[in-house]
Amino acid sequence: MADEPLKSWLETCEVAARAGGKQLLEWRGRFRTREKGACDLVTDADLASQQAIRALISERFPDHEFLGEERTDHEFVKRPDQPDQFVWIADPLDGTTNYVHGYPLYAVSLALTRGQQVLVGVIYDPLRDECYSAAQGGGAWCNGRRLKTSETTHLAEALIGVSLPPRVHGDSADLRDFVELAQVSQALRRSGSAALNMAHVANGTLDAFWATHIYPWDVAAGVLLIREAGGVVTARDGGEFDLWKPHLVVAGQAGLHQEMLAAMLPFERK
Ligand code: IPD
Ligand code: CA
Ligand code: CA
Repeated sequence: MADEPLKSWLETCEVAARAGGKQLLEWRGRFRTREKGACDLVTDADLASQQAIRALISERFPDHEFLGEERTDHEFVKRPDQPDQFVWIADPLDGTTNYVHGYPLYAVSLALTRGQQVLVGVIYDPLRDECYSAAQGGGAWCNGRRLKTSETTHLAEALIGVSLPPRVHGDSADLRDFVELAQVSQALRRSGSAALNMAHVANGTLDAFWATHIYPWDVAAGVLLIREAGGVVTARDGGEFDLWKPHLVVAGQAGLHQEMLAAMLPFERK
């Protein structure tokens, strides 16, 4: 398992993600919903979860920065000024649309980062009480069980996940990739939670996943989980993944990752 101080960061990460998850369960059936943008929802539960997470982090690590999706200031995501700054990145409810409809796939995602490094990460699925966690160099775990990505190396046998943006356009490259991969993979899924998709690549129940319209809070914890479970993470164009301008293709095996990139459209880096 992880060494100090990773151990203590991971413990805080788990406690905070669980505190967020508790809020999500408590707010079911009584939350108000508002549209932040077209088809992009936020509820009382998102806000309560973020508040619970932030309170814990600032109490234990007052010198660390905090970036939550439901930010209270209006500063948008930006690469930290200092590359050695510790930044906690939180998605207090990933899968808000699912949550609003009572569709049982949503999670809390929380990670501690420093520059491009994800030091610890947790994805907590409150409905199943499943806590996916990883610390750099310490493997990926779920409720005490070590995680390993799947053995699938060919698209024809692969179950693949994708996250599309809240309002998807008919001419989007993601949809064209969707149509292509639907024909050459075993099956495709759009579950509505990028974080859970990534947890499921880490535990081997999903073979691969891609997303281009995402934010650091959607994927920070998932990237670490997949790498620690033995999987491959790159940017959508096959180059190095950038946490602060994220788009990605991930797979349990390098061979499958290659086949996916070969089947997808050329991608222009943002
Ligand atoms: C959404 C989910 C979804 C992805 C969307 C995200 P949210 O996050 O991760 O899978 O397709 O782009 O916005 O808004 O529920 O936190
Ligand atoms: Ca999200
Ligand atoms: Ca969210």
